[in-house]
Amino acid sequence: MKRIAVLTSGGDSPGMNPAIRSITRTGLHKGLEVVGIRNGYQGLLDNEFIDLDTHIVSGRIRDAGTFLQTSRCPDFVKEEGQRRALQILADHRIDGLVVIGGDGSLKGARDLHRFGLRVIGLPGTIDNDIYGTDMGIGVDTALNTIIDLVDMIRATAASHRRCFVVEVMGRGSGYLALMTTISTGSQVAVIPEFRMNFESIVRVLDHRFASHHNNSVIIVAEGVCQGHEFMERLVATGKVKQEVRLTVLGHIQRGGTPTHFDRLLASRMGEMAVLALMSGESGSMVSAVDGRTQLRDFDDILSRRKALPGDAIRLARNIGIEIGDVVEP
Ligand code: ADP
Ligand code: F6P
Repeated sequence: MKRIAVLTSGGDSPGMNPAIRSITRTGLHKGLEVVGIRNGYQGLLDNEFIDLDTHIVSGRIRDAGTFLQTSRCPDFVKEEGQRRALQILADHRIDGLVVIGGDGSLKGARDLHRFGLRVIGLPGTIDNDIYGTDMGIGVDTALNTIIDLVDMIRATAASHRRCFVVEVMGRGSGYLALMTTISTGSQVAVIPEFRMNFESIVRVLDHRFASHHNNSVIIVAEGVCQGHEFMERLVATGKVKQEVRLTVLGHIQRGGTPTHFDRLLASRMGEMAVLALMSGESGSMVSAVDGRTQLRDFDDILSRRKALPGDAIRLARNIGIEIGDVVEP
């Protein structure tokens, strides 16, 4: 193993830069050449390679996003695109690749591994929807950003006795929405893992409106529906006694300065990816379970759906958060 490459793919997440920095510094420390591929799989197909050194990654530990840039690349999903990518990697004498991204990006990494390339993945997504790791890189930062924003919304909600609907990210997972609801003292989490129940939601709003806390906040995961659709359906019940307003947080959620947790997680995962490649490992993702980093097979993590943590669901219910009804299998 002489020369390794790293790329970021899919939606950016705060912590990708610290991960690239750690991969670069660990690789150089171990005597490897480290190459960055710009713009994800698209940049790989477009031959966008740059040499990485300590100067290029200097200061990156503080930055959200990914300085290597990222993309979505339909051509890479096809076998023809993947074979072309392998040839380009061979032309650049790449012996091992680290892919940082969400489950789509990791599927691409698995495909390259199946073709014989040495590949290690890192879970880089704010959604925390990747099976086999307690946390993805960027989740903690995104949650801290979202929590700050919802805390700010609370001022207007309280001043105007309003109900606020806040749409947060989470394409297929209610993790961000549930954790935000718990951590901001919000009243309702609308998440894809449970079926929303408008009767119960209205009951919660009524109860709050009648008390001295005459405002409420409902956190809606985008994976259920858009915030405005939810708000329209809520208002259409004709039973809400207060003004309802919507805030869609959008991409601000991905832009927070990486927290201590994410800087450390990304640094540890990046280091482990390089050590794993050097010891001949391939076809796995670095995961964090109970605070320890370990390798998990791509086939294992990509074939299963990550469930919401059971203790968080229980906690939400026990402290009176409305999360909807269990969906029968
Ligand atoms: P994320 O990695 O954040 O989940 P996407 O699902 O958009 O983001 O995936 C990012 C890129 O990974 C895609 O544009 C595509 O190039 C590649 N990819 C996604 N799904 C697959 C797949 N099933 N097989 C191979 N490559 C894939
Ligand atoms: O990073 C994952 C995610 O944030 C999803 O929650 C969301 O659906 C998606 O990315 C949106 O990303 P973009 O608008 O950049 O395509």
